[in-house]
Formats: sequence, C-alpha cells, structure tokens
Amino acid sequence: MKRKQSLFENLKLYIEKGIYPLHMPGHKRRIHTPGFSSLYDFTEVEGTDDLHHAEGILKDSMERTAGLFGADRSIYLVNGSTSGNLIGVSAICPINGELIVARNCHRSVFHALELRNITAHFVYPEFDHDFGIFGGVSPEAVEKMFQKYPDSCGVVITSPTYEGVVSDIAAIASVCHRHGAILFVDEAHGAHFGLVKSAGFPENAIRLGADLSVQSAHKTLTGLTQTAFLHMKNGLVKTENIERFLDIFITSSPSYPLMLSLDDCTEMVMNEGEKVFGNWAETLRLFDEKIMSLRHFRVLCHGTDSLQKHGFFDFDKSKLMVNCRDTHMDGERFMEIMRERFGFELEMQLSDNALAMTGPGDDREQILRFADAVLTLDREEERGNIFSDRSEGMSLMSMDLCQAVTIQCAVEAESEEVDISEASGRISSEYVYCYPPGVPVVVPGETLDENCVEGLLKLFKNGYKLHFTKSSPYQKVIACIKADKK
Ligand SMILES: Cc1ncc(COP(=O)(O)O)c(C=O)c1O
Repeated sequence: MKRKQSLFENLKLYIEKGIYPLHMPGHKRRIHTPGFSSLYDFTEVEGTDDLHHAEGILKDSMERTAGLFGADRSIYLVNGSTSGNLIGVSAICPINGELIVARNCHRSVFHALELRNITAHFVYPEFDHDFGIFGGVSPEAVEKMFQKYPDSCGVVITSPTYEGVVSDIAAIASVCHRHGAILFVDEAHGAHFGLVKSAGFPENAIRLGADLSVQSAHKTLTGLTQTAFLHMKNGLVKTENIERFLDIFITSSPSYPLMLSLDDCTEMVMNEGEKVFGNWAETLRLFDEKIMSLRHFRVLCHGTDSLQKHGFFDFDKSKLMVNCRDTHMDGERFMEIMRERFGFELEMQLSDNALAMTGPGDDREQILRFADAVLTLDREEERGNIFSDRSEGMSLMSMDLCQAVTIQCAVEAESEEVDISEASGRISSEYVYCYPPGVPVVVPGETLDENCVEGLLKLFKNGYKLHFTKSSPYQKVIACIKADKK
C-alpha cells in the first residue's frame, strides 16, 4: 500500500509549522548530541565496552557521571526511567515482599509491583485542593506506615512530581534508615537537580540520603528521548540485584547514540553548566517578573504564587503549571488556545491546569513570549464567567482505597465487566488512569467504594480521557475480580 507521507515527512511538516515546544525533551531540539549519526551507532565490539558488563569506556563514562551527581555508582539506561523503576523496585524488594509506596507513583512502579507480586502499602501524599494536585509525601506519614507495616523493606516515592512538588528527602531517608529500609526516589523529573548550585534548583535525592534514584536525562537535561540514569549510594542496595534486573529489563543491544547523549549531559554540565543553567534560571526569573500582574490565571509557585501558600517542602521552578480555575476556560482549552493562537505546544493538561515544561535548551525569547501570551489571555478574561471547578474530580486520586489483594493477584484473576455505577464493594482487576501523568486513579486489587464510584462517574461526566487497561473506555464499565456465584 502506498503511503501518503512517511514518518520523516510528517515530522518535517510538523517542524515547519514552527510550534515552540513547552514539553519534553529538555534539549528542545536546539542542543545537539555530538556524533548523532549512523557512524557512531556501534554494537559491543573490541574497544566499545558493554553496558551489561562495563569495564572500559562506558565504565569510565558512568564513573564520571556518578562523580557529578554525587552517587557511588551511576548506570546508563536506554529505556527511560520506566526501566529504572522496573529495575529499582525489583532490586530492593524480594518477590512477594512488602514495600511502602507513594500512591502517586508513575505506572512503571505499579508494573514492577505487579511483576514481583509485591504487597504495596500505599502512603498518600498531601493533596493541594487549591490547584487540585498532589503535594509532597511527609516524613511523618512514612513513619506512620512503618509503625503499621514494620516488615516493609523499603519506600518508593516520586519527587519531584510531574508538577514540580518536592518532598523532604533528607527527613524521609532518615526515617527509612532508622527502620533499616531502603529509600528509592523516582526523580524522573529532577535530573537537573543539585548540579549547578547558583541556578537554585533543589538538591538531588542521592546527595540528600536516598539509596537509589532514577532520573530521566531526556526530561530536564539535554539527553535524547529514552535516556535516563540509575544512581546508587550508601551500599544498602545490592549491586548484584541491580545487575540482575538490568540484564532482564534492558535490551541486550543498548544504543550507543543514546549512551553518547548521556555522556554528553555530564560533559555539558561540567564544561558549560554555569552558563547553561545560569541562563535557564535567569529566564525563569524574568518570566516570574513578567507575570506578577496576572489577575485571573495563576502559575504554581511563580509570580505572586509561592511555596508557602501551598505548604510544599520545596518546588522545582522549571515547571510552569498554569491554573485556569478563575477563568472561563479549563486546562484543555488553555492548551488549545496556546497551540492555535500562539504557536506553543504544552506538556499536558488535566482539569483546571496546563503544564509547560522548560529545559536547558529553551530559547529565552520564547519563554517570555509565553508569559506575554498568558498575560494577553488574562487581560481578555471577564470575571463572573467562571468555568465550573473540575479539580474536585481529581481529588479522587487522593482517596484511601483498601488494597484487598496484590496487584498481580487482581490482574491475573478471572474478571468480569461491571457497570461503574454498580461497582461499589467490588475489587478492581484493572488500572484506570489519565495519561499524562500516568498516575493510576484505580489500582488493581483496590476495593472500590461509594466515593470512588461517584468520583469515577464525575470524571466521565466532566469529559476526562480515562484509560482502562482491560475494559473499553466508553462503556462506563470496570473489570472487577469475578464474584463467586453462591
Ligand atoms: C514520575 C515519572 N516517573 C517515571 C516516568 C517514566 O519516565 P521515562 O519516560 O523516562 O521512561 C515518568 C514519565 O513521564 C514520570 O512522570
């Protein structure tokens, strides 16, 4: 069959539209990886080393990276933080073991729990009702979980969140270590943390006491898509476990262009970090200055909004999360207007919010043009014509549901589709989530209750695009573990 357009032609046409990316990857297609051509697309031959048993140039390169990030050991990943989460969770917890897991983790964490039949004790982050987003996980909440579940061998949390909220890693690490447990931080959105002090981004989890962390170099550094780091510190995580799961979850043909790009992130920070990060921080400062006069739109922890107002431990200023609650539009409409009228593509929208991601590759003029675009919309807003508040629906994710059986048991059990309106009291056999951000609203094994049913129906009513991993998204049904016929 003749193709209308090749993938290459399609992407070329997209580029020709001149839409500015306020989304990943962090290089913004402006900073180029050296040697990114088939000439450098090697395999493991004499002289090129082997990621799975690194003893030569890759070992040297990863050691240099570990030094920069403050880790004892860093491993290059060519399948994103997704693979880092699969490796990390599997390495820190035995099969059928117990872990304390933040309920707002990325789905890759849940997939690891599922594969290893781990019993997850969910710790709920605080919920920021103002913006309708998750806040941080508190050390006190983690301590309480250890009191309740002393056999937990580790804790897995996401910090920063997609939206930029940072938890108190040092305090959480102390709690974990007091209980002889490992702290694994999914820092997928924090690869830029702690590298250039003067830029003012938060410190990274490894330097704050985490035992293991994963970072996506493609999200907030200059790595090509799929590049990530797995960092280890403190000697609590067994290296042989990490190596075992690296062998299982990472391709036996890791891409040299991707590894070159990871090596180049380290070089960029070492050689030009002050300049590149300084520029980035100054751009964000100028953005803040510009948006001080906003009256209807708000930008999380920017402009007149602040960390203290939300009670977050810390925040990553590279994230520009625009809240539309006091306007006549929601996040989806805001994102459409930004695309169609102003030529910006944002990272994601959910409920009243739309998220713009900045990165080291950004063009200052474009970020300030984005500020002007938000100011233009702000001036056009007429108060009194306020969009109905949809963020309430998202607080569904902060509801404490009872985990009746492990994720694996629930997914593999015989299931049946149940009308959502009749699903209270039933155990879910599938994940329900919005993507992005990929945080499950319902996890398999959770017993649905009245509040959850009501919340799911509300999300449907408000037009949320929900993904169901087993049942059709349009039928308002959910796959539940088959009920015993008495
Ligand atoms: C918190 C979090 N962890 C992990 C991932 C997976 O990262 P990657 O795309 O590098 O596989 C994501 C993806 O967006 C994420 O948001």
